[in-house]
Order: sequence, then structure tokens, then C-alpha cells
Amino acid sequence: MVESSYEQGLTLSPLKAIWEHFTGNFPVPQVNLEGRTVLVTGGNAGLGYASVLHYARSNASRIIIASRDLKRIQTSIEQVYRDVPTYKGKIDAMQVDLSSFDSVRTFCESVKADSGRLDIVLANAGIMNAKYAQTGDGYERVLQVNGLATGLMAVLLLPKLEETASLPVPEASKGMKPSITIVASDVHYFAIFPQKNATGSLIEALNDPTQFENMSERYNMSKVLSVFIAREISKLPSVTSGKVTVTSVNPGLCKSEFRADMGPVLAKIMNWIAWTSEKGARNFLYASTQNCSPGSYISGCREQPVSTFVASHKGRETQEKYWKESMDIWRKVAPETNDVL
Ligand SMILES: NC(=O)c1ccc[n+]([C@@H]2O[C@H](COP(=O)([O-])OP(=O)(O)OC[C@H]3O[C@@H](n4cnc5c(N)ncnc54)[C@H](OP(=O)(O)O)[C@@H]3O)[C@@H](O)[C@H]2O)c1
Repeated sequence: MVESSYEQGLTLSPLKAIWEHFTGNFPVPQVNLEGRTVLVTGGNAGLGYASVLHYARSNASRIIIASRDLKRIQTSIEQVYRDVPTYKGKIDAMQVDLSSFDSVRTFCESVKADSGRLDIVLANAGIMNAKYAQTGDGYERVLQVNGLATGLMAVLLLPKLEETASLPVPEASKGMKPSITIVASDVHYFAIFPQKNATGSLIEALNDPTQFENMSERYNMSKVLSVFIAREISKLPSVTSGKVTVTSVNPGLCKSEFRADMGPVLAKIMNWIAWTSEKGARNFLYASTQNCSPGSYISGCREQPVSTFVASHKGRETQEKYWKESMDIWRKVAPETNDVL
């Protein structure tokens, strides 16, 4: 699908997005994940936690929740057993900070060293920032957390997913491939992405404080990067071999803690009209378990066209430039990416 020269993008008007929000409905995907292991970044809050509940209700044998705050994860683990009293599986906590490449690397090494299988990676953790701020690695925070570090983590975990593909397939979900799901958003349709016209380095332009427009544009742009990441991973041998699949996914507008930077009034209005996280996270369960086409974008529990920009010639060029520059960074901070890329 991604490689087709006839791919049509979609231009989503704000009015249509609002209409779809108020009329959109889709059931909870029915799947039995007995024998499967699922990893959810940001699984201690919001949509990540709602996904953990979906995986628990779907009998996943093991769920790994990863975020910065181990104490907060422990509290949510206890909550999962209260929210889904029938759940008999195991839930583990792991620490990762996506604003540090070193942390991502150490985290991925621990996941790989774990003797168990890894069937699903839900790359859910993401942020929105009102102001330009840099990480210790020298990148603008949203660019690093939602873009560079999420891509690095996905690439570093691919071999573990590929390894899992050759392990015995659990009876209850025969045919289900290991998968990576990158959490994007329908706001990727609204990104202006002026840095696409940079004559020099794209990542340098994205990292330039004078090119940080505002909170919304930065966030919308970062969700274009989420779509790019899934589409580029779909070209890697682990996926083209048919062993692993990868998607990007839109949950829809859902209740969340991450609107704090919008100010209390706007955050309250957004959360008032938003879907429950349970509803939005159905999309994550769907994208991660239904063998969706590699590189596809999932919204409303089905494959949907990406934005007109992403599908355009310029969009493809920008995607390839972003990926090439990301790989150059990863090769420096995590040389083991050479084994995958
Ligand atoms: N809510 C919506 O309407 C909506 C719509 C479209 C897309 N999305 C996307 O859905 C995802 C989840 O959003 P949400 O609304 O559930 O957000 P949220 O409630 O703010 O949760 C964010 C999660 O990410 C973790 N996190 C934040 N920074 C991190 C870092 N540097 N390293 C590792 N983990 C980090 C947090 O845990 P710790 O604080 O413990 O690290 C938390 O568990 C995001 O990617 C967001 O962009 C949300």
C-alpha cells in the first residue's frame, strides 16, 4: 500500500473531523491474547492505561508497562487487577525516559535480554509542550520524545519481535503477527510543516528554536513524524519478510492529562467533549492485533488514508530525508541500530 504510486491522501477539514468525532463508533475488537506478551510505553496513564486494560481483558499473559516513573507504574499495576478482577496474567514495570537516548538504549537492551517473548509493542508515550525546551541530548523535547526516540526504540525492538515470530504461535491467536504500533493522531492532517522546505538538514530545522511555531503546530508536526516512522519501518527486512507488521494509529480526541499546557479552560472544554480513553484505545487494540497492512494508518478501527501531504511526492521526500537523518543520529548514539537498518 505504502509503495503504491497511486496512493491517495486525504484532506480532512476541521468540520469533517468534528463530525467524525461526534458520530464515530466502533466496537471493541475481539481477540484472545493468551500466551502473548505486550509492551506499552506510557501505560500508567491516559490512553496507555486504557490499552493495558484492553490487553488485560483480552487475556494477554504478560503486560510490560514502561514509563519514567516506576512508582506510578506500580500504582497502576495494582489498579489493573482491581479494574479487571478476572485478570490472571503478569504485569511488569520497566523504566524508560524517551527524552534520553541512553535511557532508550538501556531499556531496549533489558527488553531484549529478557528470556520471554515480545508480541506487541505499543509506542504510546508522547508529549505536547507549550514552549521550546531541549533535552539533555540537545534536541527539542517533542521532536525527541515523539519522533527520534520513539523511532529509535521501535528499531531497536524489531529483532526481538522478529525472534518472537519464530517461536511457537499461541493457539488462541493463531495467525497474529508480532507488531509495532506507533501512536499518531488525526492532527497529522493539520500539520503545516514549514520545515519541509529546509534546504539543509531537516532535523536541524526542526530543532531550531526560531522555527518552533507554537504548541499545536509542533505537536501536529510530531504526529506526521509518527506516520513517517511506521511507513519507513514497513520497508525494513523484519517487515518485508512478512514476520512483523507495523502501523501508526489515531485514537481520536480522548480525555487526557496531557492538555495541561493548553491552559485550564481549553483543557477542560477539550476533555469535556473528548471520548473516553477506553473508546480511543480500541484503535490501539485493533492496530496491534489485526495484522494490518504494513505501514498503514489506523483510525476508527480501520485502515484510512494518510494526509495529502504525507502521500504527496514532497511528503515522501520529506519522510525519506527525516528517516535518513534519524538513522545518522541513531548510528552515533546507538551503533547497534546498524544491525537492523
Ligand atoms: N488524548 C488524546 O486526545 C490524544 C489524541 C491523539 C493522540 N494522542 C496520543 O496518545 C498518546 C498518549 O496520550 P495520553 O493522552 O494518554 O497522554 P498522557 O495521559 O499525558 O500520558 C502520557 C504517558 O506518557 C508517559 N511519558 C511522558 N513522557 C515520557 C517520557 N519522556 N518517557 C517515557 N514515558 C513518558 C507518561 O508516564 P510518566 O509520566 O510516568 O513518564 C504517561 O504514561 C500520546 O502519544 C498522544 O500524543 C492522544
